[in-house]
Amino acid sequence: MFSLSLIGLATLVSCSATTDQQTSAHSPDPSHEEHVDCAVLRCVALTFDDGPDQFTEELLNTLKSAQIPATFFLIGSKVEKYPGTVQRMSAEGHQVGSHTWDHSDITKLSGDQLDQQLIRTDTVIKKLTGDSPSAFRPPLGHHDVAHNKLVPYPLILWDVHSHDGRLKESNKIVDAVMDAIQPGSIILMHDTRQVTVHAVPELLAQLKLKGYTLVTVDQLFDGNLRISTPYSSAPREPKQ
Ligand code: NI
Repeated sequence: MFSLSLIGLATLVSCSATTDQQTSAHSPDPSHEEHVDCAVLRCVALTFDDGPDQFTEELLNTLKSAQIPATFFLIGSKVEKYPGTVQRMSAEGHQVGSHTWDHSDITKLSGDQLDQQLIRTDTVIKKLTGDSPSAFRPPLGHHDVAHNKLVPYPLILWDVHSHDGRLKESNKIVDAVMDAIQPGSIILMHDTRQVTVHAVPELLAQLKLKGYTLVTVDQLFDGNLRISTPYSSAPREPKQ
């Protein structure tokens, strides 16, 4: 179901909410604006779901010291519990996406219910960061054609699962990712789990050693993502 990769390019969505004036950036980080040529580099995107949560600040500290941008798919109902964390995330150059209001399986929702899930989440994120979410991840990865059409964002799935929901040791999470990683990969992790957050420094080190460049999802696709369309990795046709 989520083996779909890039399905043609027609109506391009620039996803460049970041070109709007950002809210005050306490710690300017160029990664948001920086152009990274993923046609040449071995780019991959780290994505974190289900936050913000109690471990998110620690993760932001790790990413900041490594100067690595990531993409966060936030649960709207949790955003107001951690307003400073969400503002910091955006100000430090991470991409902020939506993961519904309460982690609903979108394939079980009516059109109106789905709208409400997305609008409420959009509203709380925009209030804090100044920007609407630029991408959406369907909870559990569940999606279908009928519901995708109602989602006014690109649907970002993944091709590398860290299995951090069941693995209890950070080194196993690192291994799960490193075993499956390829250029263009989108890595699924959860910042709700301390074991995951503790895996990140070693994961960043190993990815660097293998020559990977970590980018946001928007950077991975060079901004060429269409709304209502599922993606599980960037296109992999060999360049040059
Ligand atoms: Ni989730």
